[in-house]
Amino acid sequence: MIKVEHLSFSYTKHPFIENMNFSVREGEIFGFLGPSGAGKSTVQKILTALIPAYQGSVQVLGVEAKQHKKSFYEQIGVDFEFPSLYEKLTARENLHFFASLYQHSLPPEPLLERVGLLLEADKQVSAYSKGMKSRLNFIKALMHEPRLLFLDEPTSGLDPSNARLVKDLILEQKAQGRTILLTTHNMHDATELCDRVAFIVDGEIRALDTPHHLIMSRGASRISYTYLDEKGEEKQGTSQLQKTGEDANLVRIIAENRIVSIHSSEPTLNDIFSEVTGRRLQ
Ligand SMILES: Nc1ncnc2c1ncn2[C@@H]1O[C@H](COP(=O)(O)OP(=O)(O)OP(=O)(O)O)[C@@H](O)[C@H]1O
Ligand SMILES: [Mg+2]
Repeated sequence: MIKVEHLSFSYTKHPFIENMNFSVREGEIFGFLGPSGAGKSTVQKILTALIPAYQGSVQVLGVEAKQHKKSFYEQIGVDFEFPSLYEKLTARENLHFFASLYQHSLPPEPLLERVGLLLEADKQVSAYSKGMKSRLNFIKALMHEPRLLFLDEPTSGLDPSNARLVKDLILEQKAQGRTILLTTHNMHDATELCDRVAFIVDGEIRALDTPHHLIMSRGASRISYTYLDEKGEEKQGTSQLQKTGEDANLVRIIAENRIVSIHSSEPTLNDIFSEVTGRRLQ
């Protein structure tokens, strides 16, 4: 669906993106992760043909990005990081207007209902909260049933239950065969949603793999456990993952059903973010 080879781009005289390479397969959710200012939105803008002044090859749906015609926009859906909505129109009017720009479009009401906005569909967008605008902007990208979706931080600023609604819709889009490029700062969402993720730092891809491989390649070397001792008091223990059978204490307390909790110590995508980018998440 997307094949980027030797991509270079710069906003100023200084090179920003240099020799970037990656591809996105049909039907996958591909994550863009990385610190603020790394270039995630810039790459999305190049892929969606909004920035044509790049070097290298950027094939999207089999056509070079800068050569795409208007019909390209029938096939892609874009949820920009900043909502692009008409504030003086209601949510319903916004969706009807944007639907009129496409040859094919779904009725807006079921989508409004899915993200909890149907009861407020006739409110002016200027009276919407940040999270409401974000959800409206998200469903705007889905209405014309595009093959390829670009979602730039679709869950940012959403409370957990609304983020869940949006994530479920993203997974549904994937189940319907759509390909999704997703930018997020939320490592839990990336682990849950993405088939593969690319860590971008200073315009460069520093790591690219499935979340599972990234996590398991750093390995869980130890497990930690809590158990009840003979007096019924909680105690902690640790053991090497590869040698749990040789840990006599662990074997005994398992046999005596005295384990309270047990955890393996593999890193999370948060830890990998810090390792790859050299920056801590807030
Ligand atoms: N139109 C522009 N003109 C000049 N510089 C720009 C422009 N847009 C972005 N930049 C710069 O390019 C760099 C990358 O910006 P970009 O928006 O791609 O980052 P990002 O990874 O999406 O960050 P965030 O996580 O904050 O959204 C930043 O240093 C930014 O200041
Ligand atoms: Mg961005």
